Amino acid sequence: MKIRSPIVSVLGHVDHGKTTLLDYVRGSTVADREAGGITQHIGATEIPIDTINKICGNFIARLSIKDTIPGLFFIDTPGHAAFTSLRKRGGALADLAILIVDINEGFKPQTYEAINILKMYKTPFIVVANKIDRIFGWEVHEGASFMESFKQQAPVVQTELDLKVYDLVGKLHEEGFQSERFDRVNDFSSQISIIPICAKSGEGIVELIAMLLGLAQEYLTEQLEIHEDAPAKGTVLEVKEETGLGVTVDSIIYDGVIRDGDEIALMDTNNLVKTKIRSILRPLPLEEMRDSKKKFKKVDEVVAAAGIKITAPNLDDVVSGSPLRVLSDEEDAEAELLKELEDITVDTDDEGLFVKADTLGSLEAVVHLLKEMDIPIRSAEIGDVSKRDVIDASIAKDENIEHGVIIAFNVKVHPKAENDLSNSGVKLFAGDVIYQITEDYEAWVQERKE
Ligand code: GTP
Ligand code: NA
Ligand code: MG
Repeated sequence: MKIRSPIVSVLGHVDHGKTTLLDYVRGSTVADREAGGITQHIGATEIPIDTINKICGNFIARLSIKDTIPGLFFIDTPGHAAFTSLRKRGGALADLAILIVDINEGFKPQTYEAINILKMYKTPFIVVANKIDRIFGWEVHEGASFMESFKQQAPVVQTELDLKVYDLVGKLHEEGFQSERFDRVNDFSSQISIIPICAKSGEGIVELIAMLLGLAQEYLTEQLEIHEDAPAKGTVLEVKEETGLGVTVDSIIYDGVIRDGDEIALMDTNNLVKTKIRSILRPLPLEEMRDSKKKFKKVDEVVAAAGIKITAPNLDDVVSGSPLRVLSDEEDAEAELLKELEDITVDTDDEGLFVKADTLGSLEAVVHLLKEMDIPIRSAEIGDVSKRDVIDASIAKDENIEHGVIIAFNVKVHPKAENDLSNSGVKLFAGDVIYQITEDYEAWVQERKE
């Protein structure tokens, strides 16, 4: 059995430093080149173990961590949602997550959103308290470990840092997690480590990487075993048009092997899509998948874990978050995918409200949350709010006002539906923070009762 690199997702509120952290690790400057400094797309970067050893070799040697895994496979997510498209059947695509929090700003709406999703998928995570250089009086020590740099700070600065860390401990406690600064953790299976870092100077990054390696090797080895010869399983991160290539899908392969010319199955909003791979493009190691076409290399086959771009006919309607399967034993794979689609979209009630979301994963997350709250769902679909949705909700409203509701996550109202919506009396709860939408809905229900 071969061991693949653990998939590590970096999550957190807008501008808390996700991309900068990965930039430091790969020694590039993707963040500087982004339009408006905002991550628009999900990126994936593979860091080989050799590079990791170069960054923190001594440190790893001292901790006697064996390098049995081939590397770390990082996924950067935009601050404004999207972790939810990183799904696979029955859970998160990520084996581990880094929840990054600006130590000076603390928890923000998207921090809570990330925590809710990590809880839902039961993903183990490490909290990174970023931007320690902004703590008043902090003296930067480029590339130093946190402990090394911390020792050299003035006592008031050390105290200030600890106060801020304890603030995070408190917030995590409210969310049901025990946590400590990493060097004070005595049980890694029950306590979450908080690692103070500066993504710009690299302070603390050796400890972060060492911690990720340690956790992966301690708790994940079985989960990381792959079937090298089995047909690939993957998840679609993004569907996009590329000049000269047509519609392509960026996807993460987490098990098996995928080859040029393979038959694959994916999903559009309601159906299975079958197609034949025209080409597989792989980013060079340490490069961002979304960075540039020039940095892709055409390959004949890829073994998990890998981030690849696939070109093939009929990809136009495939949705983000769709599973991807190589079809070898066709019937099995097809049945499995259809069951999966059913689980997410058809498992609805005779009466209830209407849900729209942008990706299969976000739809799943919204449906999951509403079900936990015992809110009945009449229909759950991917896509913008359409005229049809408004009409359906308006009919439901005549029977029960609380069902004349559309919950819209990360989608727009179709221009043609706007008029109908304002005339229909259908309530729209829209936004890009799931729990905010559901809270607003609950408040409205409460208000109506009073
Ligand atoms: P989105 O992808 O838009 O959600 O943001 P992000 O979380 O990827 O944050 P990004 O890496 O783009 O960083 C946001 C800003 O914070 C940039 O201007 C970074 O230079 C700055 N920044 C990130 N980390 C640090 C840090 O450790 N110290 C300081 N001083 N600035 C930082
Ligand atoms: Na940013
Ligand atoms: Mg970013």
